[in-house]
Amino acid sequence: MNYSDKVISVEKALELVKSEDVIVTGLGAGEAHDFLMQLHTIADRINDVTVTNCLPMSDFPFMKEEYKDRFFVDGWFYSPALRKAHKNGNISFIPNHLHLAGVKRLDFVKPNIYVGSCSAVDKHGFVSLSTGNTYEKRMIEAADLVILEVNPNMPKTYGDLEVHLNDINYIIESDYPVPVLPETPINEKDLKIGQYIADFVNDGDCIQFGIGGIPNAVANALVDKKDLGVHTEMLTTGLMKLAKSGVINGSKKTLHRGKMVCTFALGSAELYDFIDQNPSVMILDGNYVNDPHIIGLNDNQISINTTLEIDLTGQCCSESIGSVQFSGSGGQVDTAVGAQKAKNGKSFIALYSTAMVKDASGERVEISKIVPQLKLGAVVTLSRNDVDFVVTEYGVAALRGTNIRQRVQRLIEIAHPKFRDELYAQAKEIGII
Ligand code: COA
Repeated sequence: MNYSDKVISVEKALELVKSEDVIVTGLGAGEAHDFLMQLHTIADRINDVTVTNCLPMSDFPFMKEEYKDRFFVDGWFYSPALRKAHKNGNISFIPNHLHLAGVKRLDFVKPNIYVGSCSAVDKHGFVSLSTGNTYEKRMIEAADLVILEVNPNMPKTYGDLEVHLNDINYIIESDYPVPVLPETPINEKDLKIGQYIADFVNDGDCIQFGIGGIPNAVANALVDKKDLGVHTEMLTTGLMKLAKSGVINGSKKTLHRGKMVCTFALGSAELYDFIDQNPSVMILDGNYVNDPHIIGLNDNQISINTTLEIDLTGQCCSESIGSVQFSGSGGQVDTAVGAQKAKNGKSFIALYSTAMVKDASGERVEISKIVPQLKLGAVVTLSRNDVDFVVTEYGVAALRGTNIRQRVQRLIEIAHPKFRDELYAQAKEIGII
């Protein structure tokens, strides 16, 4: 079959879905926007259809409460849309380290349908999965039916994410803009945290930035560095800006020299324009990119991630607020452990010392993000055995190799001053010092 024989409408594609099907879609901007926007329209003729997704960018109608008896949603990484829908009861989180997310899922269940987005087809008959291949190609190979939304707005990228027309069953021609991640404005705290971390970054180092406001802000503090390289899970807007300004050139990398290696890109429209037909960007299988052993082959690897709450022994809760799922582990452990395997590698967890939250009466109050004990039910994303440097706007706590007493002391030194005495008293009270 040639290209035009494979083109079908969204309605025809939806007719292929049967009760109890397991559908997998792409991560972030790799999701099948048009198909998923209409999926709810078949609710009256199907039962128990499961959609597995990761960081969905849109608030799809099939995730609304009224369809909860027809669809299940399994998420590898919660976004605002999944957080909102979670209370409906048909949505559940899949615990995972990102580099094993696809592999382990396939041990449990095989998808009937893979549906995702891709770039326009090239003269050789290939499309590019465009913004990522964290697990997507693996799922395409395992699925009974592959439906791709061919969208000329999706950047054509290089690496290991090309799929030939022969391996695609049906094509939906689409034209939506690539979903973007809004940039958060940089504040005083970001500038301080960025400067603390920049002092540890040497010219020629290889960097990884995680998802969240702070890692992106840290990019601004690296503008005076030279010859940086990139081996990261997520290619961010901040990394793109450093590459465009010449700070990142990959010339000193010990693995994939000259290439910015990542498993997905998510950020601004300018980022998508930058990765389009750019041979310096190499998007590879997440199982490879995020394998801590592979990360560790990059000398001078620096990982920079953030967390929601850290206890005085160094346990980081980066994905839940208490027992309520907020995001996911993603590659936090992959990248933190990988960086520490590298020769001269360092791993940073950067967070503000406090957060503004609503108390029981609905009042906004300031709380310490450095706490004696994590909230009841909080998920330990990064174990205290794997934490290295912790940074707030009050300084840097080097925890590698330290004992608990030293950790308590160092973490209290970078807590907000107004909480320090209380933290000492509580640490004593609960017997950790
Ligand atoms: N207690 C209660 N609420 C807290 C809190 C705490 N200790 N710390 C933060 N919050 C609230 C904030 O107030 C904010 O609420 P709002 O949305 O109502 O304003 C919300 O939690 C998000 O906090 P914020 O600091 O803005 O989050 P972020 O967008 O910068 O993301 C993580 C931070 C940790 C959630 C995100 O980085 C993540 O999911 N990390 C895990 C995955 C990872 O690191 N992967 C690495 C490779 S990509």
